[in-house]
Amino acid sequence: MNILAIDQGTSATKALLVGPGNEILGRAEVPVTTTAAGGDGVEADPEELWSSVVSAGERALAAARAAGHVPVHAVALANQGETVLAWDKASGRPLSRAIVWQDRRSVGICERLSDQADDLRQVTGLPLDPYFAAPKMTWLRENVTDLGVITTTDTWLLHRLGAQYVTDASTASRTMLLDLDAARWSERACDAFGIDAATLPRVADCAGVVGETTVFGGRPLPVAGIAVDQQAALYAHGCVRTGDAKCTYGTGAFLLVTTGEKAPRSTAGLSASVAWRLAGKTAYCLDGQVYTAGSALRWLTEIGVLPAPADLDAVAGTVPDSGGVTFVPALAGLGAPHWAPHAKGQLAGLTMATAKGHIARAVVEGIAASVAVLAGAVAADLGDPLTALRVDGGLTRSRVLLQAQADLLGVPVLASRTPDATALGVAALARLGQGETGSPSAEVELTVRPVMSRDEAAERLSRYSHALTSTLS
Ligand code: G3P
Repeated sequence: MNILAIDQGTSATKALLVGPGNEILGRAEVPVTTTAAGGDGVEADPEELWSSVVSAGERALAAARAAGHVPVHAVALANQGETVLAWDKASGRPLSRAIVWQDRRSVGICERLSDQADDLRQVTGLPLDPYFAAPKMTWLRENVTDLGVITTTDTWLLHRLGAQYVTDASTASRTMLLDLDAARWSERACDAFGIDAATLPRVADCAGVVGETTVFGGRPLPVAGIAVDQQAALYAHGCVRTGDAKCTYGTGAFLLVTTGEKAPRSTAGLSASVAWRLAGKTAYCLDGQVYTAGSALRWLTEIGVLPAPADLDAVAGTVPDSGGVTFVPALAGLGAPHWAPHAKGQLAGLTMATAKGHIARAVVEGIAASVAVLAGAVAADLGDPLTALRVDGGLTRSRVLLQAQADLLGVPVLASRTPDATALGVAALARLGQGETGSPSAEVELTVRPVMSRDEAAERLSRYSHALTSTLS
């Protein structure tokens, strides 16, 4: 069975036609733009998201056809998680811009609800932070429109595809409106955010069929395989046992660890979510996020340190180390385990001898150190350190990043052959929903082992933590 798997991400929509053995029969990528709205706002144009889904899907199918692979049997969709919009349910017309997960304009709403933070965290597994969908939904209602429904982008895209009014359990768990233990909408959380639970979409399994679409070629195709992107990648990596972990380096970097069938709560500052729900059975994960990873490279390009993000290793390779420069990747605030939406990025330790290469390396090390901090929180929650980290995403093309990550974690980093683990994950879920089994796994192409002494790694982490403390103070 060939699945058209679409990964609608923050910076691009990727579409893959995936064959029964996880082979990629056709691939296309269409960039999407986010725009700043004031200092704290990050928006996208919903119509651009939709047209990128259609055109990436069509182009992937055209590429597959050109290579002699014709049939497509189902369409799967991964989404960027906590991004929301208001839309008219009758016409499908957007009534607002898409408010992107990085947007922090709902910080005031979180402050207003701060006396309920502990309770909400207990119910939903999530800390009260503008990153999650519900504060943004309330912000949209109070500031943009009181018309239509407000949902995460998956529900709207699925509606446009012709599917039912649904979201999946993993995406729903990123809203802060889901009762994590029961995996259904929580009246308590909906009340806190002033959201009428009756207007929310049905919470569907991640694998089952949720409708049909005629968008790709006119023939009705089942839509099956729906999940939030990070959880889809976790599934693709085959992280199904407690303690299996992956990190996807996209616009941000997202570390997730599978925890099993009982909903966890973190005591180390991570968020707790649904990993997937299959045939009514829910699996859970803990996760932490570095909000600026790929977007920090785009920033380096904008300010002229890199000719293009793809030149990272070439520029970083001009120097052996960061020359004492440290970077805290807080260009869009800090997520787990700090939850400091107002935090600002920091570049420290500059001298007259600082060259572009030092800054490029410092940015890579800052991202890798932030992921190491998250891995420390995972170890504190699970009682055991990670023994390996599976990785994917565009930034894993950087050998400098992979080595820095292995060095700072002190464990092997297993890089997937394709940077598109997310799409492979929803393709595998779709196949499952169509009654087929088979390995979900994104194949490991490269294992990078730590070469740095533990003393040196500890020294670098402590330098990072020093910079972090001054960012937070
Ligand atoms: O939480 C947001 C995240 O899932 C978005 O991922 O790949 O679009 O950076 P990405």
